[in-house]
Amino acid sequence: MGVVGGLAFLAFIVRGEPLDSDRVRRWVSGNGIVLTASAAVAALNRAVVIEREWSAFWSPDEIADAVSTQFGVAAGLRLLGGLVVALALFRAVANSPRMATVVTALIGGALVIASFAFDGHTVTEGPRWLHSIASVSHASAAAVWSGGVVLLADLLWRRHRRGADVFRPLMRFSRMAATALVLAGVAGTVMAIFVLDRFPDLWSTQWGRLLLAKIALVAVAAAIGGHNRWVLIPAVEQNENATVHQRLRRAAVIEAIALMSVAVITAFLVAASAV
Ligand code: HEM
Repeated sequence: MGVVGGLAFLAFIVRGEPLDSDRVRRWVSGNGIVLTASAAVAALNRAVVIEREWSAFWSPDEIADAVSTQFGVAAGLRLLGGLVVALALFRAVANSPRMATVVTALIGGALVIASFAFDGHTVTEGPRWLHSIASVSHASAAAVWSGGVVLLADLLWRRHRRGADVFRPLMRFSRMAATALVLAGVAGTVMAIFVLDRFPDLWSTQWGRLLLAKIALVAVAAAIGGHNRWVLIPAVEQNENATVHQRLRRAAVIEAIALMSVAVITAFLVAASAV
């Protein structure tokens, strides 16, 4: 989420703002390294789960067995994508990135996004191609919203400390997040239709109940975002009231926590049984 959401934030929210772009580049580069490491650990962990013994952790044959699956493709794409983004942006910190760096970072981001077509119920349920397109669209939109709101919360606090304007990044993010929410909701609903056999499975299966919990948390985050867009941001535009700014900073942090919780529930959702 941090890599893809950060790249979108860099391209659409803080473009032409060197001070903030620099910090976001560091953030994305750091997330690339974390993603690479977590993909490697996930692959090793899969070997242990399949072989049911810890020795699989350092057995090349058993690791090869574990990664020669759809899951292995997903882990490989995340590992490679994270590394490409980390290296591209690490070199670009502190000076304006050349076109080659931007293209390399975008290729890395595309590899990470493509990985979502190879895990979860995307590979086991419904028409494979349609489900993959829905999953990739869903994960990218979800990353733009959730990764972006974390960076927005950070930006609002830092600009508050240096007394800088927040209206422009707020408006840019609000538009981008609204579009991402709609795309995530539509693609997520399509994926749910592919996974669920019957409507009552929504409350009679572990997967269904996790999805309901996820949707409830998404609704909380969307309500906070809507209140920011239609109440707090217009108030900021009208006057520089310190209380309104404080409420906005707090709301961004709560929205970020809600979406991070959605990501945690999703980790259980993709592993849960839908029957
Ligand atoms: C109304 C909103 C949403 C709905 C209906 C929804 C529904 C779904 C469904 C059905 C899946 C497939 C799970 C599986 O394969 O078992 C999924 C996957 C996913 N969702 Fe959502 N979701 C929504 C919002 C979000 C948000 C806000 C986030 C951001 C944190 C998010 C992050 C993800 C991710 C990362 C996956 C892919 C997991 C993977 O393939 O590894 N979703 N979602």
